[in-house]
Amino acid sequence: MTLHYGRPLVAIPGPSVIPDRVLNAMHQPSPNIYEGPLVDLALSLYPDLQTVARTKAQVAIYIANGHGAWEAAITNTLSKGDKVLVLGTGRFAMGWGEWGRTTGIEATVINFGMSHAADPAKLEQALRADKTHEYKAVFVTQTDTASSVMNDIPALRKAIDAANHPALFMVDCIASLGCERFEMDAWGVDLMVAGCQKGLMTPPGLSFLFVNERALEARKTADLATSYWDWVPRFNPQGIYQNFAGTSPTHHLFGLREALNMLVHEEGVEQAWARQELFARAIWAAIEAWGADGDLKLNVADPASRSRAVTCILTSNGNGTRIREWCENTAGLTLGIGLAAQVMGSDEWHNNFRIGHMGHLNVPMVMGVLGTIDSALKTLDIPHGSGAIDAASHVIAKG
Ligand SMILES: Cc1ncc(COP(=O)(O)O)c(C=O)c1O
Repeated sequence: MTLHYGRPLVAIPGPSVIPDRVLNAMHQPSPNIYEGPLVDLALSLYPDLQTVARTKAQVAIYIANGHGAWEAAITNTLSKGDKVLVLGTGRFAMGWGEWGRTTGIEATVINFGMSHAADPAKLEQALRADKTHEYKAVFVTQTDTASSVMNDIPALRKAIDAANHPALFMVDCIASLGCERFEMDAWGVDLMVAGCQKGLMTPPGLSFLFVNERALEARKTADLATSYWDWVPRFNPQGIYQNFAGTSPTHHLFGLREALNMLVHEEGVEQAWARQELFARAIWAAIEAWGADGDLKLNVADPASRSRAVTCILTSNGNGTRIREWCENTAGLTLGIGLAAQVMGSDEWHNNFRIGHMGHLNVPMVMGVLGTIDSALKTLDIPHGSGAIDAASHVIAKG
C-alpha cells in the first residue's frame, strides 16, 4: 500500500507553500519591461511592502536571495575594517557576520546559544564598554530559522538607546516578515532585510532592504558599495530598468503582486499575524503533549522567545531524521532538517527536525502536518505522550 498519493505538502521553513493564485499570476507571457502595465505593477509593490513592515522607510528590491540582501545591507552602510556586533541566537545572524567578514568588515559575536533570545542587558553592557563607538552596526535576526528563537526587537533597541550608542540597528526578518509582528518605525530599526520566499509566499529570488534616514546617511561614507548592490539608483529610479540594475524579474513581480494582494489587501497583516500566532500555539501544544511522556521537546522553552513561523523540535537517537524520512518517503510530507547542528558540523542534527509554518497555511495543513508526525511516531515506535492532536485542535477551537 502507498500512502503518499495526493498532493505533497512541504512544511520546511522556506521556501514555503506557494499559493496557486501566485503560481497562476506568474503564468503569462513576457511583458514589455520599459513601459506599460509591468511598470505600474512594479511601482505598486513598494507601498505594500512598507505596509507589511510597518514603515515609511525606503525599499530596495534585489534579484537575489537572502544572502544577497545581507551583502547589500553590509556594502551600502559599512567600510573596510568597520566593526559590527552580532547577536547569535542560532545560525543566521552569525552567518550574516561571516558573510560580512568576506567583504572586509570585522564581526564580533555575542553567542546566546541555540535556545535563548539575545539578552538586552548583555547588548547594553557590550555597547557601554565600546566607549569610542567602534561598532558601526548591530546585526540580529528577528527569527533565527535554525533554532526557531525569536528575538525581542524593541527590547534590543532600548538597550542600544540606554547605552547611548550610535550603531545602526540592522534586523534580518527573512524568516519572519509577514509572520511575526514587526513594526520597523515604532521599534526604531534602522535597516531591515527580508526575502520573498517565506511569509511573502513567492518563489525564492527576490529580497528587500528597508532603509531609514540613519542608514541612508551611512551610505554616504560606506566604501564597500559596488554598482550592482548600490541602493541609490534603486531608490531614485529613472525607470524600472534602474530599479533592478538591469532587466526586471518580470514573473517574480507578477507573483509578488498577487501574494501582496492576498496578504495586504485581502487578509490584512494584523490578521495574518494572528493566524500565524494561533497555528504556532497549536503546534507547540501538540509537541508538549508528545513530550509529556516521550522523546520530543521544543528547542525554545520560553514561549515569548519562540518563532511563530518555524518550530525546532529536539529528539534523541537519530529520531529527528527517522521521523522526517518516514514523513517524506511514506506519507508525502517534507519537514525541515535539524539545520543548526548540521551547519555546526555535528551529528546531533539527526536528533532534531523543524516544522515550517509560515505564510500560506490553513487548519487542514496544520492538523495534517501534526497528524502525519503522530503517525510517524506510532509507526516508528518512538515514545510519545498521547493527546497531541486533541491539544492542537483545542487551541484552534478555543484560541
Ligand atoms: C533568518 C534567515 N536569514 C538569512 C537566510 C538566508 O537566506 P537565503 O537562503 O535566501 O540566502 C535565511 C534562509 O533560510 C534565513 O532563514
